Amino acid sequence: MADMSSREQYGDYQLEIYFNGLFGVLPTMPMDFPALQARAEAALPPSVLSYVAGGAGDEATQRSNVSAFGGWGLVPRMMVGAAKRDLEVDLFGLRLPSPLFMAPIGVIGLCAQDGHGDLATARAAAKSGVPMVASTLTVDPMEQVAAEFGDTPGFFQLYTPTDRALAESLVHRAEAAGFKGIVVTLDTWITGWRPRDLAASNFPQLRGHALANYTSDPVFRARLAKPPEEDMRAAVLEWAGIFGNPLTWEDLPWLRSMTSLPLILKGICAPEDVRRAKDGGVDAIYCSNHGGRQANGGLPALQALPEVVAAADGLPVLFDSGIRSGADVIKALALGATAVGVGRPYAYGLAVGGTDGIVHVLRSLLAEADLIMAVDGYPTLADLRAEGALRRL
Ligand SMILES: Cc1cc2nc3c(=O)[nH]c(=O)nc-3n(C[C@H](O)[C@H](O)[C@H](O)COP(=O)(O)O)c2cc1C
Repeated sequence: MADMSSREQYGDYQLEIYFNGLFGVLPTMPMDFPALQARAEAALPPSVLSYVAGGAGDEATQRSNVSAFGGWGLVPRMMVGAAKRDLEVDLFGLRLPSPLFMAPIGVIGLCAQDGHGDLATARAAAKSGVPMVASTLTVDPMEQVAAEFGDTPGFFQLYTPTDRALAESLVHRAEAAGFKGIVVTLDTWITGWRPRDLAASNFPQLRGHALANYTSDPVFRARLAKPPEEDMRAAVLEWAGIFGNPLTWEDLPWLRSMTSLPLILKGICAPEDVRRAKDGGVDAIYCSNHGGRQANGGLPALQALPEVVAAADGLPVLFDSGIRSGADVIKALALGATAVGVGRPYAYGLAVGGTDGIVHVLRSLLAEADLIMAVDGYPTLADLRAEGALRRL
């Protein structure tokens, strides 16, 4: 397989697939999102599937995250000669080969057939050059996840516990493990109302899943009467008691003081919140509504993006929620995102094809995005962001 981080064009992936066909080799992975989702539905155990595929309420926000992309279209430009496209981005001084990254997915560990999906995802990051944002909620501890990144930078996503010493311990471990930034998720200090999971009374963490960063942490362990290896039930109850911290802006100086790594706040969709975050010294804004998993009845994240970008006023803006195709990636970039996060599609890629399944999903998104830039005559990301490139339908 071609190394995606080399300077070849992402669109070349289609040549690889067509040439393989000449030798009778058809792709084993699906080529579009509905087919991928259908295969993942067959591959995943029902409890994991409902946790990954489901969202808050009747999932209207989750659906509108996706349908919002249909409200925009790129204006095709001809005679541009876009033979070479440049998708590289600078983020916090890191030169990334593309604007794509993998959004944090807490139970990604369970989406792999062997139950070690965090490691499989980290290996996909190493193979593809697409960074992984590793969740606090992993099956394998963050140090083991980071050890699989190869040359690709990785980021650590913090769910801030109420115990500040534990938060600091997690962040300092992430620094020591070589993560290149800390993403603090703000919209999940409490779990949203999720009918699919409620109907099956299924919440994986309460069953002891994906808590390795806690059970391996000295500060967390010191809170327990017995080590988790002897009494996991008590460890789970302790975790449930300290997991979610309803942060306020008063906490931002403390968050900022915890690390000299780039600090990114995830879940911001309101311009006023962008300004407060910026005043508090963050390094990037992460515009997201958690894929519609947390609060139903909200705006699609894409609709919030232009105002967030305007308020960020030059600060990098990461975006996720609803990315299903290369065309979606292009539209988010054209609306001003610096980097674009893929969520459920890579979880499904993992479920269907392991590490190579994720790599296929990422390569397909990038190939389609690159070919759109070629066909429509936008050779650089700056061209995409220029006035008039994207129009409302
Ligand atoms: C199963 C699942 C678990 C998630 N776990 C986390 C998490 O641990 N931390 C976090 O910040 N976001 C988490 N998210 C949200 C994603 O980072 C991202 O915002 C979302 O998947 C984007 O929506 P989309 O997948 O529909 O495009 C999770 C999403 C899913 C689907």
